[in-house]
Amino acid sequence: MKKITVSAPGKLMLFGEHAVVYNRSCLVTAVDQRMKATVEITDDNMFCLDAPEVDIAGYQKPMDCLGTGEIPSGAKFVEFAVKNFIEKYPLTYGVKVTTASDFSSQFGFGSSSASTVCVLKALSELSGKKLDNKKLFDLSYKTVLDIQGKGSGFDVAAAIYGGTLYFVTGGKVIEPLTINEISLVIGYTGIKADTVTIMASVFEKMKAQPERVERIYDAIEKLTEDAKIKMLEGDWERVGKFMDFNQEYLRDLGVSSEKLEALIVAAKQAGALGAKLSGAGGGDCMIALVTNDTKKAVEDAIEKVGGQVLPLSINAAGVRSEV
Ligand code: PMV
Repeated sequence: MKKITVSAPGKLMLFGEHAVVYNRSCLVTAVDQRMKATVEITDDNMFCLDAPEVDIAGYQKPMDCLGTGEIPSGAKFVEFAVKNFIEKYPLTYGVKVTTASDFSSQFGFGSSSASTVCVLKALSELSGKKLDNKKLFDLSYKTVLDIQGKGSGFDVAAAIYGGTLYFVTGGKVIEPLTINEISLVIGYTGIKADTVTIMASVFEKMKAQPERVERIYDAIEKLTEDAKIKMLEGDWERVGKFMDFNQEYLRDLGVSSEKLEALIVAAKQAGALGAKLSGAGGGDCMIALVTNDTKKAVEDAIEKVGGQVLPLSINAAGVRSEV
């Protein structure tokens, strides 16, 4: 086998963002918008990358120079993924990667983590190493930390395992949950969130007010634990309430924004059971929990205040080879 195409889903955080960076749990679901990577073995000992969705064309360097010199931001995750793989499992050949995405990197669905997972899965198959999911997680998570410095790895887990997961920082727990009939409306603010900057601002807040912020994280974790139980029971009224409470804590952390609030308030007024931001905050997407009866009204209300409703389904399959 000389060439393989692998795809992995994007993700949406349901509960627990920010707290999960600091040894707490979260709930995440995979969305049916996929990142794809075609990885080819070459005999020239070069690393080549085409990633049109992030404006990378014909980028290349020798395999033994990976991770050195000026690296365009769109190439970083793939380049470090290949570097980390060959450090552990040396290859005697070159690697050509071509990525493609079903979704815009603007939405905050975790395209960087999903492409990292795709490339590592493809190399694992091509090299015959056939890493299991946990090994794939560890190498992918290391790659994300090499570049971002901080992060829980929840997006990496969603890309690998798919479905809906209960997840604890760094993959200490990755538990697939069987959740049926969850009905979400996803509203995009039109604003790209800068996850790394927002995480840094939360870290500053932690330094300034450690006890207060730890209390918020504990409260978010408690909500996440309760939401897990209620989601498994299908008690969506309670899950909706917990989403509202989670949003209050995120407001307290200072990561919500005017646009997110406008979409959240509109969704609630139109009858959503609960609504909150999803991810780091500052922009990207909000999610609203709805019933069949309220779905249309909530979608209309979100669009009326300038949000874009993204028609996605959740619980998508994890990383897989494409034929
Ligand atoms: O902005 P996103 O969608 O990548 O979500 C970030 C979620 C955080 O909890 C703030 C960070 C993390 O790695 O868990």
